Amino acid sequence: MEIKTVGVVGCGLMGSGIAQICAEAGYSVIVREVNDALLKKGLGKIESFLAKGVEKGKVTPERKAEVLARLQGTTSLEKFAACDIVIEVVVESLQVKHELYQALDGICPAHTLFASNTSSLSITEMAAVTKRADRFVGLHFFNPVPLMKLVEVVRSPLTSPEAFEKAFAFAGSLGKTPIRATDKTGFIVNRLLVPYLLDAVRALEEGVGSVGDIDEGMRLGCGYPMGPFTLLDFVGLDTTYYIANIMFDEFREKRFASPPLLKRMVQAGLHGKKSGKGFYDYSQDPPKPVAGLV
Ligand code: CAA
Repeated sequence: MEIKTVGVVGCGLMGSGIAQICAEAGYSVIVREVNDALLKKGLGKIESFLAKGVEKGKVTPERKAEVLARLQGTTSLEKFAACDIVIEVVVESLQVKHELYQALDGICPAHTLFASNTSSLSITEMAAVTKRADRFVGLHFFNPVPLMKLVEVVRSPLTSPEAFEKAFAFAGSLGKTPIRATDKTGFIVNRLLVPYLLDAVRALEEGVGSVGDIDEGMRLGCGYPMGPFTLLDFVGLDTTYYIANIMFDEFREKRFASPPLLKRMVQAGLHGKKSGKGFYDYSQDPPKPVAGLV
């Protein structure tokens, strides 16, 4: 069956971006949050991204109105009965995801594809609690979703080739470049990105260079859009620490082990841009490296 209506469960940073690009691609989108306040906040992010697009001259006011009209917010799961694909973007807790998928399994029609945006949990383990493990994939988007071109499309050993190809084509229809990955923790991008970010923290701990110099080194020496500490602050130190722990648990390899400094910063609430401070202090413009971390 053709995909016409997309359900997005979760309207946080990633969920709102995913709902936005699906509506931009012409799909009817139903997006769910757990309460009205969070839903309003999430839909507000989409509206303000599009408003900035209008300011920049990238989006016309008519196009903005058209995209917003395709989005329907809800706090109930029952509305997902109308969806041809459901993309789950809730907290990285297996228990929360399992309960959600079991509920959705009873609500959605048999043809509905399930897709998780998890960055580190097992697609196979989630699929196994549903009665549609053959129609279950990973669709891993990157932050900021409206600007990042990549989607990792992940298959478990249970995913049928038809469902995988349908999800792959769907990711392409969003104007993204899909790549194929199997269900190994971290998939392709985090498998390579997480050890790099952890190594940057180790280099800082060892006194190889300062936060600013290591960032400039990778930005100007390798052409990366952001240095590793700016990126850590952007992704969230808590999120990176969480992903690293899951990867370490899976592979038991030193390269995935969190350095003590990262752990201490997470314990101290220095979570990066979203908390106002991480490797940089965002109360200043431009942000300044935080002193006394090592
Ligand atoms: N509407 C329309 N277009 C917009 C827009 C808006 N609201 N805001 C920005 N744009 C456009 C800009 O006009 C610009 O377009 P052009 O290239 O045509 O000029 C483009 O989008 C880039 O915007 P900016 O110039 O404002 O931004 P930038 O060049 O400073 O880049 C960035 C910002 C894309 C975030 C870049 O710094 C980057 O790529 N950083 C790395 C991000 C990254 O690595 N993300 C992945 C994190 S890992 C992850 O997500 C997965 C995980 O599991 C942890």
